[in-house]
Amino acid sequence: MSASHTAGPGPAYNDKVVKQFAIMTVIWGVVGMLVGVIIAAQLTWPELINGVSWLSYGRLRPLHTNAVIFAFGGSGLFATSYYVVQRTCHTRLFSDKLAALTFWGWQLVIVAAAISLPLGYTQGKEYAELEWPIDLLIAVVWVSYAIVFFGTVGTRKVRHIYVANWFYGAFIIAVALLHIVNSAALPVSFMKSYSAYAGVQDAMVQWWYGHNAVGFFLTAGFLGMMYYFVPKQAGRPVYSYRLSIVHFWALIFTYMWAGPHHLHYTALPDWAQSVGMVFSLILLAPSWGGMINGIMTLSGAWHKLRDDPVLRFLIVSLSFYGMSTFEGPMMSIKTVNALSHYTDWTIGHVHSGALGWVGLITMGATYYLVPRLFGQTKMYSVKAIELHFWTATIGIVLYIAAMWIAGVMQGLMWRSVNADGTLTYTFVESVKATFPFYVIRLLGGVLYLFGMLVMLWNVIKTAYNAPDKQPASAEVAQA
Ligand code: HEM
Ligand code: HEM
Repeated sequence: MSASHTAGPGPAYNDKVVKQFAIMTVIWGVVGMLVGVIIAAQLTWPELINGVSWLSYGRLRPLHTNAVIFAFGGSGLFATSYYVVQRTCHTRLFSDKLAALTFWGWQLVIVAAAISLPLGYTQGKEYAELEWPIDLLIAVVWVSYAIVFFGTVGTRKVRHIYVANWFYGAFIIAVALLHIVNSAALPVSFMKSYSAYAGVQDAMVQWWYGHNAVGFFLTAGFLGMMYYFVPKQAGRPVYSYRLSIVHFWALIFTYMWAGPHHLHYTALPDWAQSVGMVFSLILLAPSWGGMINGIMTLSGAWHKLRDDPVLRFLIVSLSFYGMSTFEGPMMSIKTVNALSHYTDWTIGHVHSGALGWVGLITMGATYYLVPRLFGQTKMYSVKAIELHFWTATIGIVLYIAAMWIAGVMQGLMWRSVNADGTLTYTFVESVKATFPFYVIRLLGGVLYLFGMLVMLWNVIKTAYNAPDKQPASAEVAQA
């Protein structure tokens, strides 16, 4: 296993850090999804783990979200952005030392999260739970990431900046901004702080952060992945390069304003809620523009879907992206949100985006990367990729269909009133009615996790299967 390899006649690339992040993507995927399965089981049978505070649902839930979003998704974004920026800029990473710092620093953040969250340390802000010392570490890692990424773009050997780098770049800048503003807090002791904001301002800043975490962490970076790996795997150019530029500017401008849709019918001024709703509806257009651009890249190569499971991961992820970005704007309409909010419909929406879009595209891109990083032409077992694809897809469908039905049912039960104005159902009746759907969701989660374990096995086999027998793939850096 060489620390770096040359790609064709071009410069030597730093693939060591790409390889490290790619492996951790798979490992953290298994860990985060395992915790997801555990909390899904806890919701089904609440008595499952009683009496162990650090394994209680309230502590494991943020562990799940942090592990899947920042450890699994984050490592995938680091790995692919470092790979892509070198290939499309025809140059080596700006600084090997800083790149190594981002790897070890990010792993340290994850380990600190995995220890502090079960111990109960939290700022109580969703997706920004980690306490101030860890927040400071995140800021250091992120600034280093920005220096490595933009330094590489700045020292590129080609004039053009390929569109994937625009998306990765926007993701890096926006996440720095969101993290620094939302994490502003007054520390009162080691591992305890109070937010710099109060009341409704705190809520607004938090959901400006929260929604843009979706828009930039869970979307823009992965669109960068799409613009590189879909054309590469399909062997076709991007369907419309012009559309990709319109897509970029429209998406990043619109996302910033949509946060208030998380605060419908709250103390937030009504006009601010309506602004959030309108921008969410507008967001449908750039989202679908991007999805269509990705899927249509397959024009003339549709047949490849039949026997290329890696391409199938990438393209099906785009279908889920389209689905969740249609559903999101609908849920942002106040009258629809009056039904969906607080119900499992939201959880269904989240996971159609998270499992379908984020999960599948990360897996597809990782399957593309791993054999190349280990100097091989393909993964150890293509059949295992097929198996992973089908278990993941069936798992997603079971998960999200169960949550949609449960969510609409809960919403309707809660608002149902008798002629005399009393509630038709008690809350506990709605919980009881949800039970079968929680079992189905759990089954879907187990299937999805199983697929991830198959991937881990396949990656290990690929890494140890005759690593030096074949030359490193000749990757001609081109957009
Ligand atoms: C085996 C796969 C997975 C299972 C079984 C699973 C299960 C769960 C469960 C049970 C919850 C709590 C739901 C509730 O509070 O009612 C949850 C929340 C969440 N999960 Fe997952 N999950 C999985 C994978 C993922 C992945 C891959 C991602 C992201 C890439 C993700 C992102 C989230 C987010 C963001 C939430 C919080 C949703 C909210 O607050 O509305 N999950 N998950
Ligand atoms: C056009 C795009 C989208 C719009 C307008 C949108 C809109 C919404 C709305 C209205 C909610 C419910 C808020 C509530 O009732 O509390 C929501 C929740 C959520 N969405 Fe989306 N969504 C979009 C795309 C996505 C995608 C692609 C993902 C994931 C990759 C995603 C992840 C989430 C998460 C994690 C939540 C739960 C937040 C929480 O309460 O913890 N969304 N979204």
